[in-house]
Amino acid sequence: MGSSDVRLVPARPEHVDFWMVLRSEPGARRFVDTEDDSREQLLKRIAEAGTWGDTRAKGFRWFVEYDGRLIGTVSARDISRTHGRAQLGYMLSDAYHGRGLGTRAVGMMLEQLFTLPFLQRLWLTTLAENLASQSVARKLGFTQEGTMRGHCMFLGQRRDQQLWGLLRPEWEARRRG
Ligand SMILES: CC(C)(COP(=O)(O)OP(=O)(O)OC[C@H]1O[C@@H](n2cnc3c(N)ncnc32)[C@H](O)[C@@H]1OP(=O)(O)O)[C@@H](O)C(=O)NCCC(=O)NCCS
Repeated sequence: MGSSDVRLVPARPEHVDFWMVLRSEPGARRFVDTEDDSREQLLKRIAEAGTWGDTRAKGFRWFVEYDGRLIGTVSARDISRTHGRAQLGYMLSDAYHGRGLGTRAVGMMLEQLFTLPFLQRLWLTTLAENLASQSVARKLGFTQEGTMRGHCMFLGQRRDQQLWGLLRPEWEARRRG
């Protein structure tokens, strides 16, 4: 799926080498509490990502293409049909930061996810220093709902994380503009 020059491509095993490089970039990793996964673990995560249309999928991952090049990845995980919610993640290669591409890619993922009728809430977390990620969330209509104290380990320290949420009616109201 995609619009103009940005496309979201469902994760495939051949994306793993790009994903390894992306995850090793200092800028992409700067504010991310992600684990140090091996190539095999990343391949497992790609294999476990749901195929669109799979009604039991617990998560989806897409790679972001811009002008035909891979520039990042966006994902939804811990999808709960019972509670109608999913958690989002996103990461773009350093060279493409600050051009509005993150907002576009995550916005495209929201469009896709909200076609799932059961989905009522999307949420994500940010570190206080991660102004770019907060800006992406805010621009897409997320509300900062609170602070989760000591929620993650980051660079060897326990850190707070901000909690952001977006409800379906808020998303629909924004789309109606
Ligand atoms: C978060 C991320 C996807 C944003 O992508 P992006 O393409 O750079 O984002 P956009 O260009 O769409 O928007 C970035 C916004 O943040 C702002 N911003 C970017 N870098 C910033 C910085 N260092 N300080 C303050 N604001 C910053 C931009 O000004 C822009 O806001 P504006 O449109 O209101 O001016 C990207 O920075 C990234 O991959 N970071 C590393 C991984 C990460 O942190 N993931 C999220 C974990 S919660």
